[in-house]
This record gives sequence, structure tokens and C-alpha cells, in this order.
Amino acid sequence: MAATLVPHGIRRLGVLGAGQMGTGIALVSAMRAKVPVLLYDKSPEQVRKGLGLVDKLLDKDVNKGRLTLDEAKDVRGRIEVVPEQHGFAGLRDVDMVVEAVSENLPLKQAIFAELAAELRPDAILATNTSSISLTKIAASVIPKGETASTELGKQSAARVVGLHFFNPVPVMKLVELISALQTSKDTLERARSFATACEKEVTVSKDVPGFVSNALLMPFLNEAIMHLEKGIATRDDIDTTLKLGMNHPMGPLQLADFIGLDTCLAIQKTLYDGTGDSKYRPAILLERMVDAGWLGRKSGKGFYDY
Ligand code: CAA
Repeated sequence: MAATLVPHGIRRLGVLGAGQMGTGIALVSAMRAKVPVLLYDKSPEQVRKGLGLVDKLLDKDVNKGRLTLDEAKDVRGRIEVVPEQHGFAGLRDVDMVVEAVSENLPLKQAIFAELAAELRPDAILATNTSSISLTKIAASVIPKGETASTELGKQSAARVVGLHFFNPVPVMKLVELISALQTSKDTLERARSFATACEKEVTVSKDVPGFVSNALLMPFLNEAIMHLEKGIATRDDIDTTLKLGMNHPMGPLQLADFIGLDTCLAIQKTLYDGTGDSKYRPAILLERMVDAGWLGRKSGKGFYDY
């Protein structure tokens, strides 16, 4: 049964990271939820690329008659870039920030500690992490001089939540919602309401390594890589088996390339380290391909050449 929605109350959203995920989140927020977005990335080159993708996708929607030129201009006008030199201070007035940087716990903890210090105390701090513990991230936002059990410490951690979008964000209909041990019900429901306003279906997962999505997907992709490594079948036969036999839109090796082999490895390691279960051991071939810098589609080479 659909949950009764509380209003999300997001009048302005911050998006941190202008990679594929951050850009997609900025676009659906501006287009579907019609919320003004402040986009920040420390790399101006990444921002340029991200905005190029936004323009390309809006042009496609106009050409297909899904948006008028004026509507596309309005959507584009809702996405504003925070000048690099402003840093996180440029996000000070947002009601929620969605962080979409790479899958690295110390990096996310440092970012969240800084965001918590810069943003209003009632602003929601959401992460698009695909596998890292929300509870660990929430523990990093306790203000100096407070502890996890003081009122201010608890209030700060209560506003951290997982909003896990899927790639390509404008196409995939799901958002996985993850609550840290510390997340308040109000934060969770406002984040759910925002994802719904972005026209996404929402599923909920507990804070376990990989949540539901990647605890199921990554071992499948890893197993496909092990099949290739052992010479059980060729790349094309593995992918064609799953595409035509199971109606998957992409074969597992193609999908691993699409997600990024470094991301797949980072998630698989989180599953392995977080559970201690040998069934999650990353395929050696996956490790070696990342060592070689063959990261899939984004680097021009993975299981396929691009
Ligand atoms: N960004 C935005 N839109 C994109 C896109 C991108 N990178 N790539 C494709 N699209 C859009 C196209 O523009 C097209 O849109 P329209 O229908 O509006 O024209 C639509 O997707 C279909 O594209 P194509 O016809 O070119 O290609 P396709 O039919 O082969 O579909 C696909 C492409 C949607 C990516 C499809 O292959 C697919 O669904 N693949 C599986 C993707 C998937 O599993 N994603 C989840 C990965 S896991 C994850 O993200 C989370 C994690 O934690 C790791």
C-alpha cells in the first residue's frame, strides 16, 4: 500500500558532484520535481561536461515533442552552478543536499562533516551511496563538542538519509531509500516524498552492505566475470545468454562496463568487508582490470571497447 506522503518542503536542492549520477539527479529534480537546483563540483571541467549532458537530454526531449522549447528553458534555468571558489558555503541556503561523489567512505565522511557545519541545522543531508553504511556517514556529522548521545548530536545525525538513484537517472524508475540507525522518521518521509515528486517509485532497504539492490546485483555481475575468467563461456555468449534467455536489457559484462568497473569493485569490496562472507570475494579479473585502468565505458575500455 502506498505510504501517505508528508510534504517534502524542499524549496531549493543542492547536488554535490556533477558526474553521471549528480547530473541526472539535478536534471530530474529540476524537470520532474520542478525544484531549483544548485550544482557543485570542485572540477569546473566536470561541471561543463555535466551541463553538456543536461543540454543534450533536454534537446532530445524537445525534438521528440515531450517538452516545448520554453519548458526546456525553464528546466535549464532551474539548474544553477555554484562557483568553485564558493565551496560548500555556496550550498548554505538549500533545504536538502544530495551527495553523489565516488564510493569512498573517508571522502564521504569528510564531505558530510563539512556540509553539516555549513548548512542550516534542519537541512536534510542525503547521499546517493550505492553500498556504504548510512550509519557510518551519519556518525560523521556530530558537531564539535557534541557526542552521539547529546541532543544536538542526535539532531544532526537524524537528518542523514540514503537516496539511491540508478543510472541513467532520467530513465530508471527507482529510488532506494535507506535509513541510518540515527535517521528520523521526518527525514525519511520527506526524502521519500521528494523522490516521489521526481516521479520515482521508492523501495526501502535497511542499512546493510549494498542494501537490497547491490547485495543482489553485484554478486551476479561478479559471478559473470568469474565465468569469463574461468573460460566457461566467451564474453558475448555470457551476455547474450542473459539478454536473450532472461530478457535483461544488457548482459552482465556490458552492465558492469556501464556502471564502471571501479564502482563495481568498490561495492563488491564493501560487501566482502562488511559481511566477511567469502561468497562476496571480488573476481581477480575485476581487480586486474581496475589495476590496468580499464574501467568500462567511462575510460573507453572494459570488457568492451568504446
Ligand atoms: N542518460 C540519460 N538517458 C539515457 C542514457 C544516459 N546515459 N542512455 C540512454 N538514455 C535514454 C535514451 O536517450 C533513450 O531515451 P528516449 O526513450 O527518451 O529516447 C532511452 O534511454 C533508451 O535508450 P536507447 O534506445 O539508446 O538504448 P536502450 O534501449 O538500449 O536503453 C538503457 C539503454 C536504458 C541504458 C538500457 O540498456 C538499460 O536499461 N540498461 C540497464 C541499466 C541498468 O541496469 N541500470 C542500473 C545500473 S545499477 C546502478 O545504477 C546503481 C548502482 O548502485 C551501481
